Amino acid sequence: MVEFSRVLRDWYNVQKRDLPWRNTNNPYKIWLSEIILQQTRVDQGKAYYFSFIENYPTVFDLANATEQEILNLWQGLGYYSRARNLHTSAKQIVSEFNGQFPGNYNEILKLKGVGNYTAAAIASFAYGEKVAVVDGNVYRVLSRIFGIETPIDSTIGKKQFADLAQSLIDEIEPGKHNQAIMEFGALQCIPHNPNCDACPISHKCYAFEKNEIKKLPIKSKKLVIKKRFFNYLVFIWDAKIILQKRGSNDIWAHLYEFPLIESEGFDSRFSVAPFSSNKPVFSSETVKHILSHQHLYVNFHVFHSKPLRLDESWVEIELKDFHNFPIPRVIDRFVASLKLTALSEMY
Ligand code: ADE
Repeated sequence: MVEFSRVLRDWYNVQKRDLPWRNTNNPYKIWLSEIILQQTRVDQGKAYYFSFIENYPTVFDLANATEQEILNLWQGLGYYSRARNLHTSAKQIVSEFNGQFPGNYNEILKLKGVGNYTAAAIASFAYGEKVAVVDGNVYRVLSRIFGIETPIDSTIGKKQFADLAQSLIDEIEPGKHNQAIMEFGALQCIPHNPNCDACPISHKCYAFEKNEIKKLPIKSKKLVIKKRFFNYLVFIWDAKIILQKRGSNDIWAHLYEFPLIESEGFDSRFSVAPFSSNKPVFSSETVKHILSHQHLYVNFHVFHSKPLRLDESWVEIELKDFHNFPIPRVIDRFVASLKLTALSEMY
């Protein structure tokens, strides 16, 4: 459908946002931007993009960084395995390909943390390869315009949408076509209350004609949200503090946090007896922290003493070094509210 792509690209030429990663053919920069944008909206993504490009202008710089530095820059974006995969792939590009970014879709797909969407985005934006992107925006646009009711989270649905997207992509400007359909989903064909009066395709849109905008796209599975209850023990004494590094198989992999006791519910008791003979000097209100598949209920208990014993994963650090450690956002916010630096000056 040449016309579909033509209308989208004409719309894009006029309506597109000027975004920094759109003014480059550099696959490394495009890769960084796409991995960041999987985690956050464009507004916030820009700041992270600039900071990564500034700190690591080339794939060699990223490969040579430490994991801790990278996690520190990534802090606040969540889903930290994405940052670790970036690092792993950068090292692979340097050691196996001499720093040369893989040159086509199939090779890009072999990078850790890169799926069909990201490989198609990089290959089409950087190299003009004719591979269609399919992301949440594309599902929405195609399901509405073509009236497709197959669930987008089913195997058959994924295949159907991928085939349709590929059949629509432009021969001459595949990169622009991909940018255009995503931008169209982000700005015009938005999830709730799109302004169909201003839409250049509404006269050919199944959902508009049948009044099914609200119904499409269809998802079959309901997201299951798990509740978890985190009790953090914050030991602060003599301008020192205890942190522990998280493991690999849970949220916030390899980030640092205060010693944690996870409990079954709000009021289930947990014992600090092995670590402190005193009661906390301060216990926070419960903070609710929302992740994509989990709701965390977090309490902080502050002790002005050294723990009676240290677990093997605990490390004692100077408060002044605290900012060098990558930490989850909920902890960062709590620490900011405590004004830890002010506390450290008291000692
Ligand atoms: N979201 C994901 N990739 C994007 C891109 N290249 N431009 C704007 N938003 C995006």
